[in-house]
Amino acid sequence: ASLSVDASPILARKIPDTLFGMFFEEINHAGAGGIWAELVSNRGFEAGGPHTPSNIDPWSIIGDDSSIFVGTERISCFSRNMVALRMEILCDSCPVGGVGIYNPGFWGMNIEDGKTYNLVMHVKSPKTTELTVSLTSSDGLHILASAVVRVSDTSNWIKLDQTLVSRGTDRTSRLQITANKKGVVWLDQVSLMPSDTYKGHGFRTELISMLLDLKPRFLRFPGGCFVEGSWLRNAFRWRDSIGPWEERPGHYGDVWNYWTDDGLGYYEFLQLSEDLGAAPVWVFNNGISHHDEVDTAAIAPFVKDILDSLEFARGSTESKWGSVRAAMGHPEPFPVKHVAIGNEDCGKKNYRGNYLKFYNAIREAYPDIQMISNCDGSSTPLDHPADLYDFHIYTDSKALFSMRNTFDKTSRNGPKAFVSEYAVTGNDAGRGSLLASLAEAAFLIGLEKNSDVVQMASYAPLFVNDNDQTWNPDAIVFNSWQQYGTPSYWMQKLFRESSGAMIHAVTVNSSYSGLLAASAITWHDNENSFLRVKIVNFGPDAVSLTISTTGIESSVNALGSTATVLTSGEVMDENSFTNPNKIVPVTVELRNAADVMQVTLPPHSFSAFDLAL
Ligand code: AHR
Repeated sequence: ASLSVDASPILARKIPDTLFGMFFEEINHAGAGGIWAELVSNRGFEAGGPHTPSNIDPWSIIGDDSSIFVGTERISCFSRNMVALRMEILCDSCPVGGVGIYNPGFWGMNIEDGKTYNLVMHVKSPKTTELTVSLTSSDGLHILASAVVRVSDTSNWIKLDQTLVSRGTDRTSRLQITANKKGVVWLDQVSLMPSDTYKGHGFRTELISMLLDLKPRFLRFPGGCFVEGSWLRNAFRWRDSIGPWEERPGHYGDVWNYWTDDGLGYYEFLQLSEDLGAAPVWVFNNGISHHDEVDTAAIAPFVKDILDSLEFARGSTESKWGSVRAAMGHPEPFPVKHVAIGNEDCGKKNYRGNYLKFYNAIREAYPDIQMISNCDGSSTPLDHPADLYDFHIYTDSKALFSMRNTFDKTSRNGPKAFVSEYAVTGNDAGRGSLLASLAEAAFLIGLEKNSDVVQMASYAPLFVNDNDQTWNPDAIVFNSWQQYGTPSYWMQKLFRESSGAMIHAVTVNSSYSGLLAASAITWHDNENSFLRVKIVNFGPDAVSLTISTTGIESSVNALGSTATVLTSGEVMDENSFTNPNKIVPVTVELRNAADVMQVTLPPHSFSAFDLAL
């Protein structure tokens, strides 16, 4: 079999700078209990929502009916989240260790030896009181860190800050707040953050580094269905997710079925984009959820709300919303250049009507913002104006492999495609199989080749907390303290250099060509240039291949050339917490690299040959 690359400049084309990015959705506890490092779950005792009877879950009580009574009251000093916890300590001689409450975090808090944790809580008590705050094992028996805090103001809510330094490691710890004297204490907005979050911005460092390693060029956020809500009243609302964390009401995400305190809010998503060096792509609710819709005649306030969100991101510090952003610590604007008007709503009754209202208002106020329609324009032209259209695909591995040619037939005029969600799903995917990653790699090769009409692409979903796998598979699996990439994560690493690179013409001659997908790019690393030939071998046989290169200025240099392969013994192999690196790209020197060279593609493999130029 042979593969020839013609790298003549006349046949080369630049791939868009934004081609490969990421889609972050608050799903599978990706944010709350995930990349957002907050350890307390339901920090305001508000789960259930500000307008429903409060639910304090997962807070639990330490003590029995004779020693403590715990309830909630709408008495907080925070007007947008009025529910506070009332603890009435009934015992005079309380049990050893006191009585009170504990929070297990998100399936246990990861507390590590020698690390510092910052506790903040808001407290009110009609008489001087002492509270013990501790980090303990899940049964409360082993204390990792402890301090006594004093409530001495007996008429106002007070904010208490306390650092706790752990003297041990426990992956399933809890936070306890206890007292041992009769009295009443109200508690609200209790937060426990590790002190070592990424740049102090609140993100879990080891999860951020997995994202940084893929060099995403954009970040689409915060969903997905999370943006829509099952019902409009439970959709993500940016305005409720900004400002001081204590004042955010939080909300119940009714599609993926969990409460979020919205510590990871609109501002933090913009900050996350900046920290990743990725262009922010703000997906907003367009007045449509899964089950209800705002009529186009009544959509004006929603449009105004989104214009305000753009002023928040981009406005000067003198503007109303830009000044709120500045007060939060970011006087410089965030460069929002892309917005998606809704998610997967194309078929809905009011979509076109609502869409046009948003589109026209945003175009007028921010002419440079690229707008993304939910309607697929890959085979038929859109019936409304757009800069890009969303394309989502979840299917089996054979179907996705064969979709590598999908955009070959797309009209070269009109809006560009944003493949904002793609993945192999179903039986072929396992919990993240090699097979899935191979089909996805072939699909992405097709996108690279069609990147004159495909401008952006992202895998979905990005994250899963192993304790709440609502959606399977996902790119990064984690728990309170571990994480690993599925093969779909690692496959993306071999596309990391593609955005902004030059793509070249490739011809494959082989009886296996129906099972191969290949592309070639040139890319640069400091002063070094490489021709990268990527090939997916989707079949069960090894393929011996002659790769020949023409059209380059000088010859291929063996020195500095490498071959990287993603493969495994079985096509359904997966990574796991116990074997996180079973399937990862392996790089070796390519000593026989030359203008014409012989390589072998292992069965079921994805190879990248980096030929030094
Ligand atoms: O990625 C998971 C979900 O799939 C997204 O929320 C939605 O857009 C799609 O249906």
